[in-house]
Amino acid sequence: MNIQQLLSQKISQAMVAAGADAQCDALVKPSAKVQFGDYQANGIMAAAKKLGLPPRQLAEKVISLLDLNDIAEKVEIAGPGFINIFLNKTWIAEQNELALKDEKLNLTLPTQKQTIVIDYSAPNVAKEMHVGHLRSTIIGDASVRILSFLGHNVIRANHVGDWGTQFGMLIAYLEKMQNENATDMALADLESFYRAAKKHYDEDEQFAEKARNYVVKLQGGDSYCRDMWRKLVDITMTQNIATYKRLNVTLSLEDTMGESIYNSMLPSIVADLKQKGLAVESNGAIVVFLDEFKNKEGEPMGVIIQKRDGGYLYATTDIACAKYRYEKLHADRILYYTDSRQHQHLEQVWLIVHKAGYVPESLKLEHHMFGMILGKDGKPFKTRSGDTVKLNDLLDEATQRATTLIKSKNPDLAGDELAQVVDAVAIGSVKYADLSKNRTTDYVFDWDNMLSFEGNTAPYLQYAYTRVLSIFRKSAITAEQLTGKIHLDHEKERALATRLAQFDEIITTVASEGTPHLLCAYLYDIATLFSSFYENCPILAAESETIKISRLKLAALTAKTLKTGLDMLGIKTVEKM
Ligand code: ARG
Repeated sequence: MNIQQLLSQKISQAMVAAGADAQCDALVKPSAKVQFGDYQANGIMAAAKKLGLPPRQLAEKVISLLDLNDIAEKVEIAGPGFINIFLNKTWIAEQNELALKDEKLNLTLPTQKQTIVIDYSAPNVAKEMHVGHLRSTIIGDASVRILSFLGHNVIRANHVGDWGTQFGMLIAYLEKMQNENATDMALADLESFYRAAKKHYDEDEQFAEKARNYVVKLQGGDSYCRDMWRKLVDITMTQNIATYKRLNVTLSLEDTMGESIYNSMLPSIVADLKQKGLAVESNGAIVVFLDEFKNKEGEPMGVIIQKRDGGYLYATTDIACAKYRYEKLHADRILYYTDSRQHQHLEQVWLIVHKAGYVPESLKLEHHMFGMILGKDGKPFKTRSGDTVKLNDLLDEATQRATTLIKSKNPDLAGDELAQVVDAVAIGSVKYADLSKNRTTDYVFDWDNMLSFEGNTAPYLQYAYTRVLSIFRKSAITAEQLTGKIHLDHEKERALATRLAQFDEIITTVASEGTPHLLCAYLYDIATLFSSFYENCPILAAESETIKISRLKLAALTAKTLKTGLDMLGIKTVEKM
Protein backbone atom coordinates (compact mmCIF):
# COMPACT_ATOMS: atom_id res chain seq x y z
CA MET A 1 0.00 0.00 0.00
CA ASN A 2 1.39 3.45 -0.84
CA ILE A 3 1.50 6.27 1.72
CA GLN A 4 -1.61 7.98 0.44
CA GLN A 5 -3.61 4.74 0.58
CA LEU A 6 -2.23 3.88 4.00
CA LEU A 7 -3.22 7.25 5.48
CA SER A 8 -6.56 7.11 3.70
CA GLN A 9 -7.33 3.74 5.17
CA LYS A 10 -6.31 4.69 8.71
CA ILE A 11 -8.19 7.99 8.70
CA SER A 12 -11.32 6.49 7.13
CA GLN A 13 -11.32 3.82 9.84
CA ALA A 14 -11.10 6.51 12.53
CA MET A 15 -13.92 8.41 10.81
CA VAL A 16 -16.14 5.33 10.89
CA ALA A 17 -15.25 4.79 14.54
CA ALA A 18 -16.27 8.42 15.13
CA GLY A 19 -19.69 7.74 13.65
CA ALA A 20 -19.28 8.47 9.94
CA ASP A 21 -20.83 5.98 7.52
CA ALA A 22 -18.83 3.12 6.10
CA GLN A 23 -18.65 4.71 2.64
CA CYS A 24 -16.97 7.89 3.89
CA ASP A 25 -13.79 9.01 2.15
CA ALA A 26 -10.96 10.69 4.03
CA LEU A 27 -9.82 12.36 0.77
CA VAL A 28 -6.12 12.23 1.55
CA LYS A 29 -3.79 14.18 -0.71
CA PRO A 30 -0.23 15.43 -0.54
CA SER A 31 -0.37 18.90 1.01
CA ALA A 32 -0.09 21.92 -1.22
CA LYS A 33 2.16 23.83 1.18
CA VAL A 34 4.83 22.76 3.69
CA GLN A 35 3.06 24.45 6.59
CA PHE A 36 0.11 22.09 6.00
CA GLY A 37 2.31 19.08 6.60
CA ASP A 38 3.04 16.29 4.15
CA TYR A 39 -0.53 15.12 3.60
CA GLN A 40 -3.93 16.54 4.27
CA ALA A 41 -7.29 14.86 4.73
CA ASN A 42 -10.13 16.87 3.22
CA GLY A 43 -13.01 14.49 3.80
CA ILE A 44 -14.06 15.59 7.28
CA MET A 45 -16.32 18.45 6.17
CA ALA A 46 -18.54 16.28 4.00
CA ALA A 47 -18.78 13.56 6.65
CA ALA A 48 -19.59 16.11 9.38
CA LYS A 49 -22.35 17.60 7.25
CA LYS A 50 -23.97 14.18 6.92
CA LEU A 51 -23.75 13.67 10.68
CA GLY A 52 -24.96 17.19 11.44
CA LEU A 53 -21.81 17.86 13.49
CA PRO A 54 -19.48 20.88 13.44
CA PRO A 55 -16.54 19.72 11.26
CA ARG A 56 -13.84 20.68 13.75
CA GLN A 57 -15.60 18.69 16.44
CA LEU A 58 -15.65 15.61 14.19
CA ALA A 59 -12.01 16.24 13.26
CA GLU A 60 -11.03 16.27 16.94
CA LYS A 61 -12.85 13.05 17.57
CA VAL A 62 -11.22 11.42 14.52
CA ILE A 63 -7.78 12.48 15.69
CA SER A 64 -8.40 11.08 19.16
CA LEU A 65 -9.34 7.73 17.60
CA LEU A 66 -6.60 7.80 15.00
CA ASP A 67 -3.61 5.60 15.54
CA LEU A 68 -0.84 6.44 13.09
CA ASN A 69 1.75 4.78 15.35
CA ASP A 70 5.14 5.83 14.18
CA ILE A 71 4.03 6.99 10.72
CA ALA A 72 3.30 10.57 11.74
CA GLU A 73 4.99 12.82 14.25
CA LYS A 74 2.19 15.38 14.35
CA VAL A 75 -1.47 15.55 13.32
CA GLU A 76 -3.25 18.91 13.33
CA ILE A 77 -6.65 20.38 12.60
CA ALA A 78 -6.60 23.34 10.27
CA GLY A 79 -9.18 25.78 8.89
CA PRO A 80 -12.79 24.60 8.84
CA GLY A 81 -11.85 20.96 9.54
CA PHE A 82 -8.90 19.82 7.48
CA ILE A 83 -6.51 17.35 9.07
CA ASN A 84 -2.83 17.96 8.39
CA ILE A 85 -0.41 15.09 8.73
CA PHE A 86 3.29 15.58 9.36
CA LEU A 87 5.15 12.35 8.66
CA ASN A 88 7.72 11.03 11.06
CA LYS A 89 11.17 11.43 9.55
CA THR A 90 12.41 8.14 10.97
CA TRP A 91 9.52 6.38 9.27
CA ILE A 92 10.28 8.17 5.97
CA ALA A 93 13.90 7.09 6.22
CA GLU A 94 12.76 3.50 6.74
CA GLN A 95 10.65 3.70 3.59
CA ASN A 96 13.72 4.92 1.71
CA GLU A 97 15.81 2.04 3.06
CA LEU A 98 13.20 -0.47 1.91
CA ALA A 99 13.11 1.05 -1.59
CA LEU A 100 16.88 1.05 -1.77
CA LYS A 101 17.12 -2.62 -0.86
CA ASP A 102 14.41 -3.87 -3.17
CA GLU A 103 14.86 -4.47 -6.88
CA LYS A 104 11.39 -3.00 -7.50
CA LEU A 105 11.88 -0.11 -5.10
CA ASN A 106 9.38 -1.64 -2.72
CA LEU A 107 6.52 -0.58 -4.99
CA THR A 108 3.12 -2.00 -4.14
CA LEU A 109 2.59 -4.86 -6.55
CA PRO A 110 -0.93 -5.93 -7.51
CA THR A 111 -2.34 -8.76 -5.42
CA GLN A 112 -4.03 -10.02 -8.54
CA LYS A 113 -2.10 -10.00 -11.78
CA GLN A 114 -4.21 -9.00 -14.75
CA THR A 115 -4.00 -9.78 -18.43
CA ILE A 116 -3.87 -6.35 -20.00
CA VAL A 117 -4.07 -5.87 -23.77
CA ILE A 118 -2.52 -2.63 -24.91
CA ASP A 119 -3.57 -1.49 -28.36
CA TYR A 120 -1.03 1.00 -29.63
CA SER A 121 1.05 2.31 -32.51
CA ALA A 122 -1.13 0.78 -35.25
CA PRO A 123 0.47 2.17 -38.41
CA ASN A 124 -0.88 1.32 -41.85
CA VAL A 125 0.53 -1.05 -44.44
CA ALA A 126 2.25 0.44 -47.49
CA LYS A 127 2.60 3.73 -45.67
CA GLU A 128 5.55 5.02 -43.78
CA MET A 129 5.08 5.83 -40.09
CA HIS A 130 4.48 9.52 -39.63
CA VAL A 131 4.19 11.95 -36.79
CA GLY A 132 0.53 10.96 -36.33
CA HIS A 133 1.70 7.61 -34.94
CA LEU A 134 4.18 9.09 -32.52
CA ARG A 135 1.93 9.72 -29.53
CA SER A 136 0.21 6.35 -29.61
CA THR A 137 3.53 4.55 -30.00
CA ILE A 138 5.37 6.42 -27.26
CA ILE A 139 2.62 6.68 -24.65
CA GLY A 140 1.38 3.15 -25.28
CA ASP A 141 4.88 1.77 -24.85
CA ALA A 142 5.31 3.61 -21.53
CA SER A 143 2.13 1.93 -20.30
CA VAL A 144 3.46 -1.43 -21.45
CA ARG A 145 6.67 -0.91 -19.50
CA ILE A 146 4.99 0.30 -16.32
CA LEU A 147 2.34 -2.41 -16.20
CA SER A 148 4.92 -5.10 -17.00
CA PHE A 149 7.19 -3.75 -14.26
CA LEU A 150 4.34 -4.23 -11.81
CA GLY A 151 4.09 -7.84 -12.91
CA HIS A 152 0.95 -7.83 -15.04
CA ASN A 153 0.64 -10.07 -18.06
CA VAL A 154 0.83 -7.42 -20.78
CA ILE A 155 -0.09 -8.22 -24.37
CA ARG A 156 1.04 -5.71 -26.96
CA ALA A 157 -1.47 -5.47 -29.78
CA ASN A 158 -0.28 -3.60 -32.83
CA HIS A 159 -3.60 -3.15 -34.65
CA VAL A 160 -2.00 -2.49 -38.00
CA GLY A 161 -4.20 -1.26 -40.87
CA ASP A 162 -3.51 -4.20 -43.17
CA TRP A 163 -6.83 -4.68 -44.91
CA GLY A 164 -9.18 -2.75 -47.17
CA THR A 165 -10.00 -2.07 -50.79
CA GLN A 166 -6.75 -0.18 -51.39
CA PHE A 167 -4.91 -3.52 -51.51
CA GLY A 168 -6.21 -4.25 -55.02
CA MET A 169 -4.44 -1.20 -56.31
CA LEU A 170 -1.31 -1.92 -54.27
CA ILE A 171 -1.09 -5.50 -55.52
CA ALA A 172 -1.59 -4.41 -59.13
CA TYR A 173 1.18 -1.88 -58.74
CA LEU A 174 3.53 -4.32 -57.02
CA GLU A 175 2.96 -6.70 -59.92
CA LYS A 176 3.81 -3.93 -62.38
CA MET A 177 7.03 -3.17 -60.50
CA GLN A 178 7.95 -6.84 -60.45
CA ASN A 179 7.48 -7.07 -64.18
CA GLU A 180 9.78 -4.10 -64.57
CA ASN A 181 12.32 -5.56 -62.11
CA ALA A 182 11.97 -2.44 -60.01
CA THR A 183 10.45 -3.88 -56.85
CA ASP A 184 13.23 -3.21 -54.37
CA MET A 185 13.65 0.38 -55.31
CA ALA A 186 9.94 1.06 -55.42
CA LEU A 187 9.36 -0.42 -51.97
CA ALA A 188 12.25 1.35 -50.31
CA ASP A 189 10.08 4.43 -50.22
CA LEU A 190 6.58 3.29 -49.27
CA GLU A 191 5.09 6.75 -49.41
CA SER A 192 6.00 7.16 -53.09
CA PHE A 193 4.97 3.60 -53.80
CA TYR A 194 1.49 4.28 -52.44
CA ARG A 195 1.21 7.56 -54.31
CA ALA A 196 2.33 5.99 -57.59
CA ALA A 197 -0.16 3.16 -57.19
CA LYS A 198 -2.94 5.65 -56.53
CA LYS A 199 -1.95 7.71 -59.58
CA HIS A 200 -2.16 4.68 -61.83
CA TYR A 201 -5.47 3.73 -60.30
CA ASP A 202 -6.92 7.18 -60.94
CA GLU A 203 -5.51 7.61 -64.43
CA ASP A 204 -5.35 4.19 -66.04
CA GLU A 205 -8.72 2.49 -66.48
CA GLN A 206 -7.19 -0.88 -67.35
CA PHE A 207 -5.05 -0.78 -64.22
CA ALA A 208 -8.08 0.20 -62.13
CA GLU A 209 -10.05 -2.70 -63.56
CA LYS A 210 -7.29 -5.10 -62.60
CA ALA A 211 -7.05 -3.56 -59.13
CA ARG A 212 -10.77 -4.03 -58.50
CA ASN A 213 -10.48 -7.60 -59.68
CA TYR A 214 -7.59 -8.21 -57.26
CA VAL A 215 -9.60 -6.90 -54.30
CA VAL A 216 -12.27 -9.49 -54.96
CA LYS A 217 -9.66 -12.22 -55.43
CA LEU A 218 -7.79 -11.25 -52.27
CA GLN A 219 -10.98 -11.33 -50.24
CA GLY A 220 -11.79 -14.70 -51.75
CA GLY A 221 -8.47 -16.08 -50.53
CA ASP A 222 -6.73 -16.36 -53.93
CA SER A 223 -3.21 -17.53 -53.20
CA TYR A 224 -1.40 -15.26 -55.68
CA CYS A 225 -3.10 -12.18 -54.26
CA ARG A 226 -2.49 -13.40 -50.71
CA ASP A 227 1.23 -13.78 -51.41
CA MET A 228 1.47 -10.33 -52.93
CA TRP A 229 -0.43 -8.87 -49.96
CA ARG A 230 1.88 -10.68 -47.52
CA LYS A 231 4.86 -9.16 -49.27
CA LEU A 232 3.49 -5.68 -48.76
CA VAL A 233 2.73 -6.35 -45.10
CA ASP A 234 6.16 -7.87 -44.45
CA ILE A 235 8.08 -5.05 -46.06
CA THR A 236 6.11 -2.42 -44.19
CA MET A 237 6.52 -4.18 -40.88
CA THR A 238 10.25 -4.70 -41.39
CA GLN A 239 10.60 -0.96 -41.86
CA ASN A 240 8.38 -0.24 -38.86
CA ILE A 241 10.33 -2.58 -36.61
CA ALA A 242 13.48 -0.67 -37.51
CA THR A 243 11.73 2.55 -36.50
CA TYR A 244 10.58 1.00 -33.20
CA LYS A 245 14.12 -0.07 -32.48
CA ARG A 246 15.35 3.42 -33.18
CA LEU A 247 12.67 4.82 -30.89
CA ASN A 248 13.51 2.32 -28.13
CA VAL A 249 9.95 1.02 -28.34
CA THR A 250 9.37 -2.60 -27.30
CA LEU A 251 7.09 -3.66 -30.18
CA SER A 252 8.28 -6.61 -32.21
CA LEU A 253 6.95 -8.51 -35.21
CA GLU A 254 5.13 -10.99 -32.96
CA ASP A 255 2.99 -8.19 -31.56
CA THR A 256 1.42 -7.47 -34.92
CA MET A 257 -2.30 -8.19 -34.74
CA GLY A 258 -3.54 -6.42 -37.83
CA GLU A 259 -7.12 -5.83 -38.86
CA SER A 260 -6.95 -8.77 -41.26
CA ILE A 261 -6.87 -11.40 -38.53
CA TYR A 262 -10.50 -10.65 -37.70
CA ASN A 263 -11.80 -11.21 -41.26
CA SER A 264 -13.04 -14.72 -40.67
CA MET A 265 -15.09 -13.58 -37.67
CA LEU A 266 -16.99 -10.83 -39.48
CA PRO A 267 -19.78 -12.72 -41.36
CA SER A 268 -20.88 -14.61 -38.26
CA ILE A 269 -20.83 -11.47 -36.13
CA VAL A 270 -23.10 -9.66 -38.58
CA ALA A 271 -25.43 -12.67 -38.70
CA ASP A 272 -25.44 -12.92 -34.91
CA LEU A 273 -26.16 -9.22 -34.37
CA LYS A 274 -29.05 -9.53 -36.83
CA GLN A 275 -30.34 -12.60 -35.08
CA LYS A 276 -30.17 -10.85 -31.70
CA GLY A 277 -32.24 -8.03 -33.16
CA LEU A 278 -29.45 -5.52 -32.64
CA ALA A 279 -28.64 -5.06 -36.32
CA VAL A 280 -31.21 -4.33 -39.00
CA GLU A 281 -31.21 -3.74 -42.73
CA SER A 282 -31.41 -0.10 -43.73
CA ASN A 283 -31.13 1.04 -47.37
CA GLY A 284 -29.43 -2.21 -48.23
CA ALA A 285 -26.77 -1.88 -45.54
CA ILE A 286 -26.70 -3.64 -42.15
CA VAL A 287 -26.87 -1.13 -39.33
CA VAL A 288 -26.91 -1.15 -35.52
CA PHE A 289 -29.02 1.76 -34.23
CA LEU A 290 -27.99 3.05 -30.82
CA ASP A 291 -30.44 5.02 -28.68
CA GLU A 292 -27.55 6.16 -26.53
CA PHE A 293 -26.11 8.19 -29.41
CA LYS A 294 -28.25 10.77 -31.21
CA ASN A 295 -27.58 12.28 -34.61
CA LYS A 296 -28.19 15.93 -35.53
CA GLU A 297 -31.89 15.26 -36.02
CA GLY A 298 -32.12 13.77 -32.51
CA GLU A 299 -32.64 10.26 -33.85
CA PRO A 300 -30.74 7.16 -32.73
CA MET A 301 -27.40 7.03 -34.49
CA GLY A 302 -26.72 4.17 -36.87
CA VAL A 303 -23.40 2.32 -36.94
CA ILE A 304 -22.98 0.58 -40.30
CA ILE A 305 -21.43 -2.85 -39.89
CA GLN A 306 -21.87 -4.08 -43.47
CA LYS A 307 -22.12 -1.96 -46.58
CA ARG A 308 -24.58 -2.54 -49.42
CA ASP A 309 -21.82 -4.15 -51.48
CA GLY A 310 -21.15 -6.62 -48.67
CA GLY A 311 -17.97 -4.92 -47.44
CA TYR A 312 -17.24 -4.62 -43.73
CA LEU A 313 -16.12 -1.52 -41.90
CA TYR A 314 -13.67 -0.33 -39.26
CA ALA A 315 -16.42 -0.70 -36.63
CA THR A 316 -17.11 -4.32 -37.60
CA THR A 317 -13.44 -5.18 -37.22
CA ASP A 318 -13.25 -3.49 -33.83
CA ILE A 319 -16.31 -5.39 -32.61
CA ALA A 320 -14.61 -8.66 -33.58
CA CYS A 321 -11.35 -7.44 -32.11
CA ALA A 322 -12.84 -6.76 -28.65
CA LYS A 323 -14.55 -10.16 -28.72
CA TYR A 324 -11.28 -11.83 -29.70
CA ARG A 325 -9.33 -10.09 -26.96
CA TYR A 326 -11.79 -11.32 -24.39
CA GLU A 327 -12.35 -14.86 -25.68
CA LYS A 328 -8.92 -15.74 -27.02
CA LEU A 329 -6.53 -13.48 -25.13
CA HIS A 330 -8.53 -13.58 -21.86
CA ALA A 331 -8.10 -9.89 -21.27
CA ASP A 332 -9.12 -8.38 -17.93
CA ARG A 333 -8.44 -4.91 -19.20
CA ILE A 334 -7.95 -3.41 -22.68
CA LEU A 335 -6.31 -0.03 -23.22
CA TYR A 336 -6.69 1.73 -26.56
CA TYR A 337 -4.15 4.39 -27.43
CA THR A 338 -5.68 6.33 -30.30
CA ASP A 339 -6.34 10.02 -30.79
CA SER A 340 -9.43 11.66 -29.38
CA ARG A 341 -11.18 11.77 -32.76
CA GLN A 342 -11.76 8.04 -32.47
CA HIS A 343 -13.52 8.33 -29.12
CA GLN A 344 -17.07 8.07 -30.39
CA HIS A 345 -16.16 5.18 -32.66
CA LEU A 346 -14.79 3.21 -29.70
CA GLU A 347 -17.68 4.07 -27.40
CA GLN A 348 -20.12 2.80 -30.01
CA VAL A 349 -18.15 -0.37 -30.58
CA TRP A 350 -18.02 -1.06 -26.83
CA LEU A 351 -21.72 -0.45 -26.43
CA ILE A 352 -22.43 -2.95 -29.19
CA VAL A 353 -20.13 -5.64 -27.77
CA HIS A 354 -21.74 -5.22 -24.35
CA LYS A 355 -25.27 -5.35 -25.74
CA ALA A 356 -24.41 -8.45 -27.73
CA GLY A 357 -22.82 -10.05 -24.68
CA TYR A 358 -19.47 -10.53 -26.44
CA VAL A 359 -17.59 -9.14 -23.47
CA PRO A 360 -18.74 -8.94 -19.84
CA GLU A 361 -19.15 -5.61 -18.04
CA SER A 362 -16.30 -6.66 -15.77
CA LEU A 363 -13.81 -6.35 -18.63
CA LYS A 364 -12.49 -2.83 -18.49
CA LEU A 365 -12.34 -1.09 -21.86
CA GLU A 366 -10.46 2.18 -21.66
CA HIS A 367 -9.73 4.76 -24.28
CA HIS A 368 -6.50 6.49 -23.32
CA MET A 369 -6.94 9.19 -25.89
CA PHE A 370 -4.65 12.01 -26.80
CA GLY A 371 -4.66 15.33 -28.63
CA MET A 372 -2.69 16.43 -31.66
CA ILE A 373 0.88 17.57 -32.18
CA LEU A 374 0.87 21.14 -33.42
CA GLY A 375 3.46 23.27 -35.18
CA LYS A 376 4.57 26.61 -33.72
CA ASP A 377 1.82 28.24 -35.77
CA GLY A 378 -0.76 26.35 -33.73
CA LYS A 379 -1.83 24.26 -36.73
CA PRO A 380 -1.26 20.49 -37.11
CA PHE A 381 2.47 19.82 -37.34
CA LYS A 382 3.55 19.59 -41.01
CA THR A 383 6.71 19.96 -43.07
CA ARG A 384 7.44 23.36 -44.59
CA SER A 385 5.92 22.19 -47.86
CA GLY A 386 2.77 21.12 -46.03
CA ASP A 387 3.30 17.32 -46.05
CA THR A 388 2.93 15.01 -43.08
CA VAL A 389 6.20 14.64 -41.20
CA LYS A 390 7.71 11.17 -41.54
CA LEU A 391 8.86 9.71 -38.27
CA ASN A 392 12.27 8.78 -39.60
CA ASP A 393 12.88 12.29 -40.91
CA LEU A 394 11.88 13.68 -37.53
CA LEU A 395 14.32 11.36 -35.74
CA ASP A 396 17.08 12.27 -38.21
CA GLU A 397 16.62 15.91 -37.36
CA ALA A 398 16.57 15.13 -33.63
CA THR A 399 19.88 13.29 -34.02
CA GLN A 400 21.43 16.15 -35.93
CA ARG A 401 20.35 18.72 -33.39
CA ALA A 402 21.42 16.58 -30.44
CA THR A 403 24.85 16.06 -32.01
CA THR A 404 25.43 19.81 -32.24
CA LEU A 405 24.15 20.30 -28.70
CA ILE A 406 26.21 17.57 -27.06
CA LYS A 407 29.38 18.48 -28.93
CA SER A 408 29.09 22.04 -27.74
CA LYS A 409 28.46 20.97 -24.13
CA ASN A 410 31.16 18.38 -24.00
CA PRO A 411 33.77 18.65 -26.79
CA ASP A 412 35.74 15.74 -25.26
CA LEU A 413 33.15 13.15 -26.17
CA ALA A 414 33.86 11.17 -29.33
CA GLY A 415 33.25 7.89 -31.11
CA ASP A 416 30.90 5.37 -29.57
CA GLU A 417 30.52 7.31 -26.38
CA LEU A 418 29.36 10.40 -28.26
CA ALA A 419 27.01 8.32 -30.40
CA GLN A 420 25.44 6.80 -27.30
CA VAL A 421 24.87 10.11 -25.60
CA VAL A 422 23.47 11.62 -28.79
CA ASP A 423 21.09 8.71 -29.24
CA ALA A 424 19.86 8.89 -25.64
CA VAL A 425 19.36 12.66 -25.82
CA ALA A 426 17.88 12.84 -29.33
CA ILE A 427 15.31 10.08 -28.95
CA GLY A 428 14.79 10.82 -25.28
CA SER A 429 13.97 14.47 -25.98
CA VAL A 430 11.36 13.69 -28.61
CA LYS A 431 9.73 11.06 -26.42
CA TYR A 432 9.90 13.03 -23.21
CA ALA A 433 8.39 16.14 -24.80
CA ASP A 434 5.36 14.03 -25.59
CA LEU A 435 5.21 12.02 -22.39
CA SER A 436 5.54 15.05 -20.14
CA LYS A 437 2.39 16.73 -21.49
CA ASN A 438 -1.05 15.81 -20.29
CA ARG A 439 -2.01 13.47 -23.13
CA THR A 440 -5.58 14.71 -23.44
CA THR A 441 -4.52 18.08 -24.84
CA ASP A 442 -2.75 19.17 -28.02
CA TYR A 443 0.87 20.27 -27.70
CA VAL A 444 3.26 22.37 -29.72
CA PHE A 445 6.31 20.59 -31.09
CA ASP A 446 9.30 22.78 -30.22
CA TRP A 447 12.91 21.62 -30.78
CA ASP A 448 14.47 24.29 -28.58
CA ASN A 449 12.31 23.46 -25.58
CA MET A 450 12.72 19.72 -25.78
CA LEU A 451 16.49 19.87 -26.23
CA SER A 452 17.08 22.29 -23.40
CA PHE A 453 19.19 21.37 -20.38
CA GLU A 454 16.87 23.44 -18.23
CA GLY A 455 13.32 22.71 -17.21
CA ASN A 456 11.24 19.57 -17.39
CA THR A 457 13.12 17.92 -20.28
CA ALA A 458 14.90 14.66 -21.04
CA PRO A 459 18.39 16.21 -21.14
CA TYR A 460 17.84 17.83 -17.73
CA LEU A 461 16.89 14.51 -16.14
CA GLN A 462 19.54 12.52 -17.99
CA TYR A 463 22.14 15.03 -16.85
CA ALA A 464 20.87 15.00 -13.27
CA TYR A 465 21.30 11.23 -13.30
CA THR A 466 24.92 11.46 -14.48
CA ARG A 467 25.66 14.01 -11.74
CA VAL A 468 24.58 11.57 -9.05
CA LEU A 469 26.68 8.83 -10.62
CA SER A 470 29.71 11.10 -10.68
CA ILE A 471 29.46 11.53 -6.90
CA PHE A 472 29.77 7.77 -6.55
CA ARG A 473 32.70 7.66 -8.94
CA LYS A 474 34.47 10.24 -6.77
CA SER A 475 33.54 8.55 -3.49
CA ALA A 476 35.05 5.23 -4.53
CA ILE A 477 32.13 3.54 -2.74
CA THR A 478 29.39 1.73 -4.60
CA ALA A 479 25.76 2.04 -3.62
CA GLU A 480 25.81 -1.63 -2.55
CA GLN A 481 28.61 -1.05 -0.08
CA LEU A 482 26.73 1.54 1.94
CA THR A 483 26.17 0.39 5.51
CA GLY A 484 24.55 2.59 8.08
CA LYS A 485 21.24 4.38 8.22
CA ILE A 486 19.55 7.30 6.55
CA HIS A 487 19.16 10.31 8.85
CA LEU A 488 16.94 13.19 7.86
CA ASP A 489 18.07 16.09 10.00
CA HIS A 490 18.44 18.78 7.37
CA GLU A 491 15.26 20.23 5.87
CA LYS A 492 16.56 19.53 2.34
CA GLU A 493 17.29 15.91 3.19
CA ARG A 494 13.79 15.50 4.52
CA ALA A 495 12.18 17.14 1.47
CA LEU A 496 14.04 14.88 -0.96
CA ALA A 497 13.44 11.76 1.13
CA THR A 498 9.71 12.42 1.43
CA ARG A 499 9.33 12.89 -2.31
CA LEU A 500 11.36 9.74 -2.96
CA ALA A 501 8.95 7.84 -0.71
CA GLN A 502 6.07 8.96 -2.93
CA PHE A 503 7.25 7.01 -6.00
CA ASP A 504 4.80 4.26 -5.09
CA GLU A 505 1.71 6.46 -5.17
CA ILE A 506 2.76 8.11 -8.42
CA ILE A 507 3.15 4.73 -10.08
CA THR A 508 -0.23 3.55 -8.71
CA THR A 509 -1.93 6.49 -10.39
CA VAL A 510 -0.02 6.28 -13.67
CA ALA A 511 -0.69 2.54 -13.92
CA SER A 512 -4.41 3.01 -13.53
CA GLU A 513 -4.91 6.21 -15.54
CA GLY A 514 -2.23 5.89 -18.22
CA THR A 515 -0.93 9.38 -17.46
CA PRO A 516 2.87 9.32 -17.83
CA HIS A 517 3.07 13.12 -17.50
CA LEU A 518 2.58 12.63 -13.75
CA LEU A 519 5.64 10.41 -13.63
CA CYS A 520 7.60 12.99 -15.64
CA ALA A 521 6.59 15.80 -13.28
CA TYR A 522 7.58 13.59 -10.36
CA LEU A 523 11.03 12.78 -11.77
CA TYR A 524 11.56 16.45 -12.46
CA ASP A 525 10.73 17.17 -8.82
CA ILE A 526 13.20 14.55 -7.67
CA ALA A 527 15.93 16.04 -9.84
CA THR A 528 15.34 19.58 -8.59
CA LEU A 529 15.03 18.48 -4.96
CA PHE A 530 18.26 16.56 -5.32
CA SER A 531 19.94 19.59 -6.77
CA SER A 532 19.04 21.83 -3.82
CA PHE A 533 19.88 19.04 -1.36
CA TYR A 534 23.30 18.75 -3.01
CA GLU A 535 23.89 22.50 -2.83
CA ASN A 536 22.96 22.65 0.85
CA CYS A 537 24.21 19.37 2.20
CA PRO A 538 27.80 18.45 1.38
CA ILE A 539 28.00 14.75 0.64
CA LEU A 540 31.63 13.69 0.32
CA ALA A 541 32.71 16.53 2.61
CA ALA A 542 30.01 15.82 5.19
CA GLU A 543 30.82 16.57 8.83
CA SER A 544 30.89 12.91 9.81
CA GLU A 545 31.12 9.46 8.24
CA THR A 546 27.58 8.68 9.47
CA ILE A 547 26.15 11.70 7.65
CA LYS A 548 28.21 11.01 4.57
CA ILE A 549 26.85 7.47 4.33
CA SER A 550 23.30 8.70 4.95
CA ARG A 551 23.60 11.30 2.18
CA LEU A 552 25.17 8.82 -0.21
CA LYS A 553 22.20 6.58 0.42
CA LEU A 554 19.82 9.37 -0.50
CA ALA A 555 21.89 9.98 -3.61
CA ALA A 556 21.76 6.27 -4.45
CA LEU A 557 18.00 6.18 -4.12
CA THR A 558 17.72 9.32 -6.23
CA ALA A 559 19.74 7.67 -9.00
CA LYS A 560 17.77 4.46 -8.73
CA THR A 561 14.44 6.29 -8.87
CA LEU A 562 15.49 8.44 -11.84
CA LYS A 563 16.81 5.43 -13.72
CA THR A 564 13.77 3.26 -13.01
CA GLY A 565 11.39 6.10 -13.85
CA LEU A 566 13.13 6.90 -17.13
CA ASP A 567 13.26 3.20 -18.03
CA MET A 568 9.53 3.02 -17.44
CA LEU A 569 9.11 5.88 -19.88
CA GLY A 570 11.34 4.17 -22.44
CA ILE A 571 14.05 6.81 -22.09
CA LYS A 572 17.70 5.80 -22.02
CA THR A 573 20.23 7.02 -19.53
CA VAL A 574 24.02 7.20 -19.89
CA GLU A 575 26.76 7.19 -17.27
CA LYS A 576 28.46 10.35 -18.42
CA MET A 577 27.50 13.16 -20.74
N1 ARG B 1 -4.77 2.04 -37.67
C1 ARG B 1 -5.59 3.01 -37.04
C2 ARG B 1 -5.14 4.41 -37.46
O1 ARG B 1 -4.13 4.59 -38.09
C3 ARG B 1 -5.57 2.94 -35.52
C4 ARG B 1 -6.09 1.66 -34.92
C5 ARG B 1 -6.39 1.78 -33.49
N2 ARG B 1 -6.86 0.56 -32.88
C6 ARG B 1 -8.10 0.07 -32.99
N3 ARG B 1 -8.37 -1.09 -32.39
N4 ARG B 1 -9.02 0.68 -33.67
O2 ARG B 1 -5.82 5.37 -37.15
